[in-house]
Amino acid sequence: MDFMGIGRLGQALTAREIFALIQADLRQVEEQIAIESVAPVDTITSIGQYLQASGGKRLRPSLLLLTSKLTGGAGPSAIRLGAVVELIHTATLVHDDVIDGADTRRGRPSTNAQWGNHTSVLAGDWLYMQAFQIALRERSFRVLDVLIALTQGMVEGELLQLRRIGQIAVSEADYMELVDRKTAGLFAACARLGALCGAAAPEFEEKLAEYGWNLGMAFQLVDDVLDFTARETVLGKPVGNDLREGKVTLPMIYALETAAPADRAMVETILRERSYESVPFAAILDLVKRSGGLNRAMERAQTFSDKARESLGGLPDSPYQRALVAITELVTDRDH
Ligand code: IPE
Ligand code: IPE
Ligand code: MG
Ligand code: MG
Repeated sequence: MDFMGIGRLGQALTAREIFALIQADLRQVEEQIAIESVAPVDTITSIGQYLQASGGKRLRPSLLLLTSKLTGGAGPSAIRLGAVVELIHTATLVHDDVIDGADTRRGRPSTNAQWGNHTSVLAGDWLYMQAFQIALRERSFRVLDVLIALTQGMVEGELLQLRRIGQIAVSEADYMELVDRKTAGLFAACARLGALCGAAAPEFEEKLAEYGWNLGMAFQLVDDVLDFTARETVLGKPVGNDLREGKVTLPMIYALETAAPADRAMVETILRERSYESVPFAAILDLVKRSGGLNRAMERAQTFSDKARESLGGLPDSPYQRALVAITELVTDRDH
């Protein structure tokens, strides 16, 4: 088989090749987002345009488009729902940055840094509702059901996270529960919505949702590793940020399992002070490295990404199947 020049049977695709498969549709998703971000109150329109122009990987609409194409459901519904999931994602980022008091997002001042908390909360609310307004056009209770459940799940995830802020005693199970709601639920929903566009058989839809969920888990685990290891200019947000925001993530949870009292005290100091003034970030990086916490967290991410790939087992070879396989590798290899 040869499709758009991609003829190497069974081989994983590169990021560029994956992009080529959905480039035209992604452009339509962008057009849809631009049209739908116009509000009667110009502050909202300005924020919408600011967010859209600030970049972002568009991973969630890409996932939805690929699963819709895989199941033969590409078309206006997939475009609309691609815009919907990106708008929901954007709204959560706007609210998340308010909650976290984050100054930077996608290498630029966050919405809250630019417009303040009050305006940002309202703009986030508006974006959520706009996403649902677009989704309503599908006239599908099933679609609304998936979207409502995922949005409530994300809010629950943020609330669970808030409850753990500043705490050193976070278990691996607590962490996984949080990541499931905060991130994996949206990835699962994207894959499921793509399958719904294609009217895939229920078992197939479940397999794709399982793929999305495992991919989302791997994605967030890698994100939490990158918070320690990435370069700020590449990541688009400051490194060492999670701990400074009071979040104990998986590399640190593992590190703390074997940490000496002095190391534990160091972590407690940062959680208390919420800065790297008394304890430098380099000391924290050294702790997660030498304890093996970083490596273990990466291995765990790898396990999720392997699981995602296994969920695709038995699918006939196609460019879309290969793209989905390749994404499981790109997620664990990424640097931002
Ligand atoms: C950021 O998601 C929030 C997390 C789940 C870690 P992305 O890293 O996909 O954000 P953008 O859209 O590319 O900026
Ligand atoms: C991202 O959460 C927002 C959601 C996934 C809802 P985080 O607070 O962990 O991510 P960043 O570091 O701000 O992107
Ligand atoms: Mg945040
Ligand atoms: Mg984070």
